[in-house]
Amino acid sequence: MYKINDNYLKLQGSYLFSTIGKKVAEYSLANPEKSIIRLGIGDVTQPLAPAIIEALHSAVDEMGKAETFRGYAPELGYEFLRNAIAKNDYEDRGADIQADEIFVSDGAKSDSGNIQEIFSLDNRVAVCDPVYPVYLDANVMAGRTGEFNKGTERFDNVVYMPCREENGFVPELPKEPADLIYLCFPNNPTGSAITKAQLQEWVDYANRTGAVIIYDAAYEAYISEAEVPHTIFECEGARTCAIELKSFSKNAGFTGTRLGYTVIPKDLKCGGVSLHSLWARRHGTKYNGAPYIIQKAGEAVYSEAGKRQLKEQVAYYMNNAKIIKEGLKETGYTVYGGVNAPYIWLKTPDKTTSWEFFDYLLERANVVGTPGSGFGPSGEGYFRLTAFGSYENTVAAMERIKKL
Ligand SMILES: Cc1ncc(COP(=O)(O)O)c(C=O)c1O
Repeated sequence: MYKINDNYLKLQGSYLFSTIGKKVAEYSLANPEKSIIRLGIGDVTQPLAPAIIEALHSAVDEMGKAETFRGYAPELGYEFLRNAIAKNDYEDRGADIQADEIFVSDGAKSDSGNIQEIFSLDNRVAVCDPVYPVYLDANVMAGRTGEFNKGTERFDNVVYMPCREENGFVPELPKEPADLIYLCFPNNPTGSAITKAQLQEWVDYANRTGAVIIYDAAYEAYISEAEVPHTIFECEGARTCAIELKSFSKNAGFTGTRLGYTVIPKDLKCGGVSLHSLWARRHGTKYNGAPYIIQKAGEAVYSEAGKRQLKEQVAYYMNNAKIIKEGLKETGYTVYGGVNAPYIWLKTPDKTTSWEFFDYLLERANVVGTPGSGFGPSGEGYFRLTAFGSYENTVAAMERIKKL
């Protein structure tokens, strides 16, 4: 008789955004005349930039001719894309990463969920609290955690690193042993950023204790302050302790197009075994590469026209962030984020819980956000709004909230 992977039974509830979707659908059904503004899920709304569309069209045409047709992509990704990434995202930032240390993929969600496979189940995972749920759930599914403890609202055998107002939403170094440390900056959900000096402390800690940092830089394009690093490889010593995950979703609107990459430096070794070779083996066995057409679109992100157009797109969303942040402040809310990230993290007023505030905003303003507690127990009492809506919807949502 077969058995299931009963680690899945440890997972809590349904995925946060399914619960929100269900609540919004029920409300819409009962109130069909209400127009709902969604500032909940972190999905982009602006169309792909013209330089990307042009690259897509031309790649589609290539696929229609025998001379230029492409089949399976190279396992690690096309060189034209890996070279563009190495030059623009690393060399130009003074970070030493070579093209053959970059693994092109279909996005950071799958990479952040899959990367744990190359590590032993004995490793202890450390995550920020609140956290992008994928890091934790992927480790629960793999069996690297204990049971969920209803009292503490935490999984046993996981190091939770609270990120709250008191520490500026940047975690302190763990006091208990941790092997796989997930960090995400600029942060989803809190919208906070880490300075290069703070990140250097993490890199030094990891090298000192023999931990590995899995650094998710999906929101790197939104950084506006000079002291915030664009990649962990700006820090000295990161080549021996860090893996970096990047996505084309938020900097270039590829949420529906799908493209990302993972960087594993060849110096990252565990007892002489290169993690790069393990991930290359895993990639080669379980993944057949992002489509040629999409990788061509990714290359266009780094063209002069692409860079210019995407800078404007990021500025468009960050203008929304400013409208939300300033609007909420004027209304008396305590707000964080929105400076180096497209997320605004607000304190729920009058000690309401995150879900109570969700219902209040949905029912009274018809605005959808995300309850902070959905990202972990330290997110209780907070609420996330995203800047990824349209300008018009963002302005309208703020007008509604101000009138409450
Ligand atoms: C922190 C973080 N990492 C990764 C992702 C997923 O990125 P992708 O669309 O490349 O899978 C998201 C998406 O919201 C995210 O917030």
